[in-house]
Amino acid sequence: MRDYLRALVTGELSAGDPVPSERMLCERFGVSRMTVRQAVDALVVEGLLERIQGRGTFVAPPKVDLQVRLASFTEEMVRRGMTASVKVLTAETAPAPPDIAAALDIAVGDTVIHLYRLRFADDAPMAVEHTWLPSDRLPAFLEHGVPSSVYVELGERGLTPDWGEDTIDAGEADDEEAELLTIKPGKPVLRITRRAFTGDQAIEYAQSAYRSDRYTLWVPVSRPNAPVVPRRRTTTQNTDINPNTTPNTKPIRSTT
Ligand code: GLP
Repeated sequence: MRDYLRALVTGELSAGDPVPSERMLCERFGVSRMTVRQAVDALVVEGLLERIQGRGTFVAPPKVDLQVRLASFTEEMVRRGMTASVKVLTAETAPAPPDIAAALDIAVGDTVIHLYRLRFADDAPMAVEHTWLPSDRLPAFLEHGVPSSVYVELGERGLTPDWGEDTIDAGEADDEEAELLTIKPGKPVLRITRRAFTGDQAIEYAQSAYRSDRYTLWVPVSRPNAPVVPRRRTTTQNTDINPNTTPNTKPIRSTT
């Protein structure tokens, strides 16, 4: 039953189409309602189907596989063949509070540019995002309106971030996020926090909440290189590096 439904959803139906009724599936396969319901439940969990209260069960829109890398929202959507757009909720300059100052390696009270944006993919709300940028590195950033892509604007100023770190947490949408993302409060979201650097200076700190029903994080993984630890120096031997003789020291943080 599950395989039949999966083939139907991926082969014949399109996003938003209703799936055949439980009664019809029971009759066609000669199975109980419970069996049909379990098959549908499994595909709801997989994200292929979605239940809409009071309306029925429909083919879910495909999930966007968001790769963990130093790309912008706009780039990620373009890579997926989607159109990115944005609604600016706040665009201001303000003194940096302690947590933002620490993340950007600036002094508390230094001016930061703060953007609060709702991000769309093909007109569907996908993420809400707070972004803070150090004002002194980006003069007149808001003078001609808010750029539709922060990273394009950084690139035009020769400040494309070249490294950074993302942290990803599971969370629940609060009331405001839920309203903006058109989901129910308490639904799961992916909270992605990014610090990005250009050279050795922080250029961006961002906190995003992505709809987890529309995003799959894609994390390429590879075996870590053998840790390289200098051998203990002896009187007759220079310090050298020999990965074959090093103890198996485990990194404290794993990177992707
Ligand atoms: C992603 C990152 C944010 C970054 C944003 C820039 O969403 N998580 O840290 O600020 O992309 O996107 P854009 O250049 O489209 O404004």
